[in-house]
Amino acid sequence: MSDAAPRYAVFGHPVAHSLSPRIHRAFAAQFGGDIDYRPIDAPPQAFAAALAAFRAEGGVGANVTLPLKERAFAACAQVSDYAARSGVVNTLEALPGGGWRGHNTDGPGLVADLTARHGLDLRARDVLLLGAGGAAQGVAYALLDAGVRSLTLANRTPERADALADRIGQPGRVHVRYWADLGASGSYNLVINATAAGVTGGAIDLPFGILAPRGTGYDLSYAQAATGFLAWARAAGAEQALDGLGMLVEQAALAYAVWFGRRPESEPVYAALRADLDR
Ligand code: ATR
Repeated sequence: MSDAAPRYAVFGHPVAHSLSPRIHRAFAAQFGGDIDYRPIDAPPQAFAAALAAFRAEGGVGANVTLPLKERAFAACAQVSDYAARSGVVNTLEALPGGGWRGHNTDGPGLVADLTARHGLDLRARDVLLLGAGGAAQGVAYALLDAGVRSLTLANRTPERADALADRIGQPGRVHVRYWADLGASGSYNLVINATAAGVTGGAIDLPFGILAPRGTGYDLSYAQAATGFLAWARAAGAEQALDGLGMLVEQAALAYAVWFGRRPESEPVYAALRADLDR
């Protein structure tokens, strides 16, 4: 191991606008300290080399964001139970003898945001999860662990939704619907957008009837990327139309706890970011 000062980072591509450095500095300040935490831009094919270089320079912990979460999983010598089930890793912890242990705090972060911050009782929710990529994989298991009544998967490319349902393997509670048939598939009181449509600038085409009266629409992304889906949710009559800013802060708090063994206060950090976003 290097004897350089411990370093932390967020890997992504792109990553320049990531809020993670600001969030982790704010957490460190709560304990009267600082953290050397920086964004590292790495395209997928360069990720493994960038991670090795980071380790050689004293890197001991990292977050991983789009589009690297499956690569991060593959780079780990060990993974947590949750990461093993979901197949995606968003938090890396350096192992003392070399190598990385991978965690996934996205799913538990989403559940913390939905329940603790927004007061949802997930056991009363029939959830429609849109998308079947890494983002959907990362949160599906946590929603089931939290006791949702049912989880329906729909993806533009149906084979990927089938594959995710097979992987989860809970046919009693997990269902798959064709995207094209969503209008005829009934309604859900929690619709979660885990597609990359907003991030890539693509349009997302959804019928209004899939959101039950007084339902909740939630987009895993925030800012510009969430506007299209949240506008749809409001037009569909959502009681709550929520972006993923709270999930971002919660997954970061859980990652911080992995690295430092103590849980920071997420609420003041969330409030400051929300105020900036609303400005
Ligand atoms: P991520 O890690 O963000 O999930 P990904 O693994 O590339 O990234 O998956 C992107 C997801 O967004 C997929 O579910 C994709 O659907 P396809 O599997 O059919 O490609 C979905 N997606 C992207 N753009 C979309 C759009 N305009 N409408 C609906 N789904 C979209």
